[in-house]
Amino acid sequence: MAEALSALGEWERSDYAGTLRSEDAGRVVTVMGWVHGRRDHGGVIFIDLRDRSGLVQIVLDPERSALAHAAGAGVRLEFVIAVRGTIVPRSPETVNPDLATGAIEVVGDEVRILNSARPSPFPVDDAIDAAEAVRLRYRYLDLRRPRMFRNLWLRHRLAARTRGYLDAHGFVEVETPVLTRSTPEGARDYLVPSRVNPGTFFALPQSPQLFKQMLMVAGVDRYYQIARCFRDEDLRADRQPEFTQIDLEMSFLGRPAIFRLMEGLVAELFAEADVAMPPLPLPVLGYAEAMARFGCDRPDTRFGLELVDCAPVFAGSGFKVFADALAKGGTIKAIVAPDGSQLSRKDLDDLTEFVAIYGAKGLAWIRVNPDGWQSPIVKFLSDDERARLTAAAGLVPGNVVMLVADTPRIVHDALAALRLRLGAKLGMIDERKKHLVWVTDFPLFEYDEEHRRHVAVHHPFTAPVEEDLDTLERDPLAVRAQAYDLVLNGTEIGGGSVRIHQPTVQARVFGVLGIGAEEAQDKFGFLLEALASGAPPHGGLAFGFDRLVMLLAGEESIREVIAFPKTQKAMDLMTEAPSTVDARQLRELGIKLDR
Ligand code: AMO
Ligand code: AMP
Repeated sequence: MAEALSALGEWERSDYAGTLRSEDAGRVVTVMGWVHGRRDHGGVIFIDLRDRSGLVQIVLDPERSALAHAAGAGVRLEFVIAVRGTIVPRSPETVNPDLATGAIEVVGDEVRILNSARPSPFPVDDAIDAAEAVRLRYRYLDLRRPRMFRNLWLRHRLAARTRGYLDAHGFVEVETPVLTRSTPEGARDYLVPSRVNPGTFFALPQSPQLFKQMLMVAGVDRYYQIARCFRDEDLRADRQPEFTQIDLEMSFLGRPAIFRLMEGLVAELFAEADVAMPPLPLPVLGYAEAMARFGCDRPDTRFGLELVDCAPVFAGSGFKVFADALAKGGTIKAIVAPDGSQLSRKDLDDLTEFVAIYGAKGLAWIRVNPDGWQSPIVKFLSDDERARLTAAAGLVPGNVVMLVADTPRIVHDALAALRLRLGAKLGMIDERKKHLVWVTDFPLFEYDEEHRRHVAVHHPFTAPVEEDLDTLERDPLAVRAQAYDLVLNGTEIGGGSVRIHQPTVQARVFGVLGIGAEEAQDKFGFLLEALASGAPPHGGLAFGFDRLVMLLAGEESIREVIAFPKTQKAMDLMTEAPSTVDARQLRELGIKLDR
């Protein structure tokens, strides 16, 4: 039957469908939404009507209204309808305890079909797992699913709560430009050609870093912005080419006060998401300790399996692999699985392949059996080494020790990844737990072997730790930064620093980075001038808002909490961006393509 479409006319919605309850019995209501399901029981038609709040069951009985029933007979899934009717309690045997509105139904008197819908490429239902490419292509349908709306709603609530908290603490929301000059945050820039100034380009901001510092020089004192950032980098489950930060900067406050204010904000956001917040103040872990214990600077502290330093154990070892690693300035570290019976020989082979991804040339393992050690390397180990390893790692029968010998970088990368993998495999990670930890005292610089120069670990505007200032030029790699990251269950959800506010110090840091006076003047002249114009001490940080929402929503990818995310290949499948442009547009911009 060809459905006759109606206009909305004078109809007004009285209630969201999913909010109706037994207390509403007897009320005449108007609900509007999408046909989620339809059952024709030869006579009476049942329709599940869905809007963003949930579902309600509509009953269309021809004896009550022949017209409404006829309209109901014409609808298909995802048609848009409006229903006027009366709320009646369901008989006890038809109550649906799985549905918030399951104790009632709406007996329809009038039905309007507001729009038809073509067959949906996938059912609009949380229980159905459609391929992500299809979901992104038809994102407007995907977002109709309750889980997706719940995520959008949570994101909105968290943004609103952020604004409320920061407003109450004297922060001013200031918008900063999107067409700007690149700041060195470390990723590639997205460039925008300028038509008016041929041959020149804007860069989309990787973060509003320098603008917020300018606002501090301007006396704004406390700034925030829920800011969009753009980074052309390799994408992962927790990385998007454009993402959102809660970006903050404060004047005349040192690290303790910054931590206090930020912890207060995080606590509010946890409360808003109804997630239990760990007690304040949050634990602080130095970078060196984080690396030593977990092999990485964003440790998941919900479980143990900490790294054991075995370099002293194997000093002077006769096992060539270990001896060579130590001779070359490398190290040896281990992870001990408490209950080795959970790890089969095949598991250990798989784990050896797994650590190879991180560059480890092998994974030496030892089973500590009650009747002796079983291991491919046991024949190489002296009794002394065995005794030292037993003491260093606190070995007891049943344990399996896994060792990697290599450069510190490979040992840490491999064991940090192995630790996470083992934690999951051995069931040691309590998914309900939320662990927050500040990681501080990062090195200010690291050495980029490929380009043979020092680069900033955080960014070039981060202040060195006061007492390390003297060694800035002499031993740059030993200089600690006044930088900090906030880590939630192993994900970096925020990072920031106390900034350099004196132009002389800034110039020295540029110097170590190989940015000479002339280049500094050319690229950062405005910053040096501003710092020389009465810059207050200041510092701040930025939270990765998408990551925070993801973790508080219990999702595993930030794409689940972004309305219109890009794919791993940085494409928008719905609008099909990026796309080619007219030759005329390119001509106007003075751009010639060479492919
Ligand atoms: P940083 O580069 O550490 O610091 O970024 C801050 C936080 O933003 C999140 N984040 C991302 N989220 C999604 N996709 C991405 N591609 C992505 N990149 C980063 C992370 C990270 O902790 N201007 C400085 C902050 C400051 O110093 O105040 C900055 O941008 O959660
Ligand atoms: P091989 O002498 O190469 O046969 O290795 C003997 C054992 O040591 C094997 O179990 C290897 O997985 C392990 N192994 C080899 N290289 C390393 C390394 N760099 N770190 C830890 N274990 C290793």
